[in-house]
This record gives sequence, C-alpha cells and structure tokens, in this order.
Amino acid sequence: MALSRDSGGNQGSSEQEATDVSTTTSSRVIRPAERTRDIRYAVRDVVLLAEEAARGGLEMLSLNIGDPNLFGFAPPEHLVEATCEAMRANLNGYAPSSGIPEAIEAVNAEARRNGIRPICHTFITSGASEAIELALVALVNRGENVLTPSPGYPLYTAVLAKLEVENRAYYLDEENGWQPDIDDIAGRIDANTRAIVVINPNNPTGSVASRETLEALIELAIRHNIVLFSDEIYDKLLFDDREHLATASLSQRAKIITFNGLSKAYVVPGFRIGWGVISGPPDELESYCEAIRKMERARLSANHPEQYAIRPALEGDQAHLGQMMKRLERQRDLTVERLNAIDGISCVPPHGAFYAFPRLECNVSDQEFCARMIREHGVVIVPGNGFGQREGTQHFRVVFLPDEEVLGKAFDRIAEVTAEYR
Ligand SMILES: Cc1ncc(COP(=O)(O)O)c(C=O)c1O
Repeated sequence: MALSRDSGGNQGSSEQEATDVSTTTSSRVIRPAERTRDIRYAVRDVVLLAEEAARGGLEMLSLNIGDPNLFGFAPPEHLVEATCEAMRANLNGYAPSSGIPEAIEAVNAEARRNGIRPICHTFITSGASEAIELALVALVNRGENVLTPSPGYPLYTAVLAKLEVENRAYYLDEENGWQPDIDDIAGRIDANTRAIVVINPNNPTGSVASRETLEALIELAIRHNIVLFSDEIYDKLLFDDREHLATASLSQRAKIITFNGLSKAYVVPGFRIGWGVISGPPDELESYCEAIRKMERARLSANHPEQYAIRPALEGDQAHLGQMMKRLERQRDLTVERLNAIDGISCVPPHGAFYAFPRLECNVSDQEFCARMIREHGVVIVPGNGFGQREGTQHFRVVFLPDEEVLGKAFDRIAEVTAEYR
C-alpha cells in the first residue's frame, strides 16, 4: 500500500517518488487566489523600504502612519479604565453579534445628536474597517460597481478586489479644495452602480466636504437608488472652526451608512472598535439590514471588553480632543507653510484629519521620489499612486502627527531633494 505523502515524502515507493520528482517544483507551489494579485496597501508597503533604510543606520522620520499613539497622543483614562473593568468582570466571552446594547444605544444617541434619522440598524465591529467590509459584502455582486474617491483610503479598493467587484474611481477636485467632483461622479454612474463612497474628512487630503457637495451626492443617490457610504471616522478632528455635517443628517430619504469608530478621535486604534449606522426609509432597507445581520452572525462578534469603552468615550469628558486639535493645528500650519515654500511642491490646506496630500511638480515620479526620500534620507512618505490621483499628476501623502521638530527636519530634507529635480 502506498504511504500517503503526508506521512513523509521519502517513504513512498520508488515509482511514486519518480512521479513526485517529475512534478516540477512550480506545480507544487501553492497558488494564491488571483483576487489578491492587485491588492495594494501603499501605507504599509513603504514600511519594507523603511525597515531596510533603518537597518542601514539612517535616522528615520515616519510621516506615513495614521496612528496617533505612536506620536505622543494617548486615550482618555476613563475609556481605558472602562475596558479594564470589563475584562476584570470577565466580560471576555463573545458579545452579541451586532454589539452590546449599551454601546449601540450610545452610538445611536450620538447619531441622533448629529441629526441622523430614521436609524434602521446599528452594528459594532472590529474597527470601522470591518463595518465597511460587512456592508460591501452584503450589498454588491460581481458585475456591479462601487464609486470610490480618488484620492481615497485604499481599504475600499482592497475589499472590492477581494469581492471581485469593480472599483470605479471618481475624482476629488484639487482646484476646488479636493471636493468630490459631482459631474465626474454623475458621469460614472450606470445601472450596475450600487454604492458611492464619500470620505469626510478625507484621507489622504484632509478635505472637508461642503453642504453643497453632500446635497448633490444625496440627490444622485436618491435619483439612482444607490447606497451612500459615508466614512466619517475623522469627523471630530477639524481645524479652522470647520463644521462637520453628517451626510445622513441632510436627508431621511437617502439610504446611507455612516461609518465611525474610536480609533482616531479617541486614540485607540488598537482596540479595533468601529461601527456602521444605517439610515433611510426602513421598508426599503429591511432586506439589506438583514443581510448585514447575517454577516455579523457569521463572524460571531466584535471585540467584547473594548465595547465597554464606547459609551464613556462618546458621553464622557472630551477635553483630550481640544488638546489634541491644538497641537495638530500647529503641525498642520507648519506642514502647509513649509511645503508651499518649496519650489516644485504645492499643498491644498487640509481642514480635518491629520493628512496632507501635496502635489509634486518635478522631473520625477512620486514613486521614485518617495523611495528616494525613504532610502537616502529616512523620510517615510507614501506615494500618491497608492491613494489614486489624476493621470499625469504626482503627489505624496504626509501624516502630520509627528511633532514640529521631526516635521521640520523632514521638510528640510524634502526641500533639498525637490531642488535636485527642478
Ligand atoms: C478613511 C478611513 N476609514 C477607515 C479607517 C479604518 O479605521 P478603523 O481603525 O476604525 O478600522 C481609516 C484608518 O486609517 C481611515 O483613514
């Protein structure tokens, strides 16, 4: 009896071995699914280059990661305490699939304070990332398409690639403060368009959508019966006394999912806590909500003890936000001033989040420019093509979470290298 291959290749009959040897190595290599082929996550991809540069002894200046905890920002104590208390009380089992009731109530209360109604379903997830993924999985089929902003956060394109659904990029208009280009969006909608994503404030540009833009998007969504995905994870990180409008507060007729979470404004990205709030005409959304509930049940639950941080976060003292924004605004000012002073770079001032997306007008591709900044100067920035940009334009993303000293040094080095390409 021939031994199974699992029990050790050298125990097979000689005839069996001959077959194994003639089967070339390449045919035995495990082929990953084709759907993973084009998945890029530029923000993490540059880390490999940066690690190599760091091993070479360069002083590294990390302007690539949107993780506030790495740069001296910390969550409010009461939020950490609530989580530890839940752990000590052994609330360490699975949570209800949609989330614990007190967290859902707190999220709904905040949504209502923001003017969102009627609320059809709220679900707590492992970061806003999981909410976005569940909402897409439950909505789109192959052959359909989803409109996503370019530039925009690459999670959407990664999930759509995984679902083998067409990601149809629409442009944000740099000449108009990176507002979504409504004509461009309208021109790309067809009978197979199921959702439009708006990221407000936007990552990577820091732009904040105007009421006019949001109303135009809502009008398109209603007219074509398309779901609006409104990613508002940076809604509390605003500069210049900007007001944030929840997209869903502007219409009770449009079908909208508002995504948010604790990662950014409450400085706990490692908690992996986010949520989605579905609003609009309940009878027209019922089947979709049920499909999302099925997906929630299939993955059991989001992190349990960390959900006890949601109510204290949303309803407790918000003092940390004031301090955070004061520091971020200084760093934003420095970023815009220093970048705009460089010949060959121009930067639209961000009004929210902690990102800027300057334009590079030099004789070099953004890819090459960023690679050189990382390899030779230790300045870790992410090329614009990782977020999407208009054909023929070059950008890079700067995270201005590092303190002014680090930012200052990084901009000195960026200025030096840019001068070489002029
Ligand atoms: C626009 C946007 N949406 C969603 C996320 C993911 O957030 P979470 O940590 O809640 O998964 C990020 C993270 O950087 C983001 O920039």
